[in-house]
Amino acid sequence: MAIQISPSILSADFARLADEAAAVPNADWLHVDVMDGHFVPNLTLGLPIVESLLKATDTPVDCHLMIEDPDRWAPAYAEAGAGSVTVHAKAANAPVRTLREIRRLGARAGLALNPAEPVEPYADLVGEMDMLLLMTVEPGFGGQRFLDLVLPKIRRARAILDSREASVWLQVDGGVGTETIERAAEAGADVFVAGSAVYGAQDPAKAIEVLRSQATE
Ligand code: DX5
Ligand code: ZN
Repeated sequence: MAIQISPSILSADFARLADEAAAVPNADWLHVDVMDGHFVPNLTLGLPIVESLLKATDTPVDCHLMIEDPDRWAPAYAEAGAGSVTVHAKAANAPVRTLREIRRLGARAGLALNPAEPVEPYADLVGEMDMLLLMTVEPGFGGQRFLDLVLPKIRRARAILDSREASVWLQVDGGVGTETIERAAEAGADVFVAGSAVYGAQDPAKAIEVLRSQATE
């Protein structure tokens, strides 16, 4: 299982996004948290800034949409050139259509579940997605504590994906750092979002390598 690290620019300096992207040349993805102040109690950025970031970096961009009505908004992020677009299951009215639309527009399609949402109801959708994102904090803010209560769900999700021989990545997001990444990896996650653990470090690129080696052990 190849390990991937997706640093979240939520913990970066938004006035210097191009430099912050350049500071992590070893990142597999740049994770961009789009929040609308409705689906989550925080407001970040939207399509114009994602479009600018896409021009400023060669690193693939992983858009995590924490917004209402992702059915309406998600396709534009794929069309703009994001490599991956993830929508929250409970926000989507037509998740199958939206995931198909994201793929049709050339991006990888992701489906996200909050800590309290079970994975089993989505087992039949694994063929429609390229990534399953299991939130390990309640979405909305960086720097929160990793919720160990999600670990059993990561294991169950890994079992579902393996039993269906699906080549679906299993991403975790929230509180991932040197103290927690090994637990998440051991449970079966293979794509790790890390905001404060990367951009809060003196040397963000070095922090990525440390996380990568911990997850690979
Ligand atoms: C939280 C966001 C995360 C956030 C993670 O809702 O989805 O991507 O940036 O930040 P850390 O790694 O600091 O928990
Ligand atoms: Zn995120």
